[in-house]
Amino acid sequence: ELLDRSGVWRFRELLPILDNFGNAITLQEGNTPLYQLSRAGKALGLDQLYAKHQGMNPSGSFKDTGMTAALSVARERGFQWVACASTGNTSAAMAAYAARAGMRSLVLIPEGKIAWGKLSQAMDYGAVTCQLKTDFDGCLRVLLEIVREAPIYLLNSMNPYRLEGQKTPALEIAEAFDWNVPDHLIVPGGNLANSSALGKGFKEMKELGLVARVPKISVIQAAGANPLVQYLGAGVGAEFKSVEAHTRATAIRIGNPASWKKAARVVEETGGWCLDVTEAEIAIAKAEIGLEGIGCEPASAVTLAGLKKLRAQGSVANGDSVVLLLTGHTLKDADYTIDFHRGTLLRPEEAAGHEAVIDGLRRNA
Ligand code: F0G
Repeated sequence: ELLDRSGVWRFRELLPILDNFGNAITLQEGNTPLYQLSRAGKALGLDQLYAKHQGMNPSGSFKDTGMTAALSVARERGFQWVACASTGNTSAAMAAYAARAGMRSLVLIPEGKIAWGKLSQAMDYGAVTCQLKTDFDGCLRVLLEIVREAPIYLLNSMNPYRLEGQKTPALEIAEAFDWNVPDHLIVPGGNLANSSALGKGFKEMKELGLVARVPKISVIQAAGANPLVQYLGAGVGAEFKSVEAHTRATAIRIGNPASWKKAARVVEETGGWCLDVTEAEIAIAKAEIGLEGIGCEPASAVTLAGLKKLRAQGSVANGDSVVLLLTGHTLKDADYTIDFHRGTLLRPEEAAGHEAVIDGLRRNA
């Protein structure tokens, strides 16, 4: 059956979201590879370092697992239109699944602040695509006004069904470890839906007795877009404050994340960490993931950059097993990669101290 070929719908007993599974819209998402990262593992003294590559989904990002779920609900409820604000990947995934369902889609994206690959996907899949002269957070504010006036189904990450789909990689990771989970799962943090969803997935598996424990889930943000890091670092009783977000990892250029409360709870309950990494650290880590023969988009590379810090501070011990969640395909943001290899990505002061590493990477490549 088609649904059994989807890494999301093969877990449908754990997805209480449709009246009729015949309404599911699938592009055979999920079932993504778990790669061992042997070079990076060796450099960090870790025998068991893996990457769960969600960029190997049909539209090239982890968003597909959530979109197959939420688009199916939208169709079952009889909507004709769906919409989202996006830093690019959500819109590409939504447009693909809407096209598959024969529905129309509306995309609001911040002008000049998303990668071309992602914008071109939304166009290819037939979305009505509007670039607004604001940031992601501004796009979301405008969209919330629009859906109040029109019968459009909202597909931003406050949509609960997306989280249901996005919890399924947790099941696949546990399955790959023979239901004996890794010690650490490291996830990029933007709007903070993914870390929330994966936390939910592991928690439910534990409640069902499928696994005996859950991994420590750590969330890594870009230093220029780090509101969760600031919040958790500020101590008990602090207020959550949004930030003005800046990073070349445009997917996670988000200053006012919707799911900060859930993500904070996941980090705290699982005993994980939340920290941030610089632009130079992201760029180097991305190049290293490329040299494993895998590659990913910049936002995904914060995971390896974050792991280096966790290792340096002793939070990840010798012998620990670690899974990095890579969220997007390397071709999503080709401009970034080319700028890096041309030497024009980082300002000289950012590259200082990293030049030797970059040279070494180039020579090895
Ligand atoms: N990595 C990639 C490649 C992303 O596209 C995103 C988010 C994240 C990480 C962060 O995940 O938001 O659940 O914490 N992209 C959204 C979008 C915001 O619109 O495509 P998160």
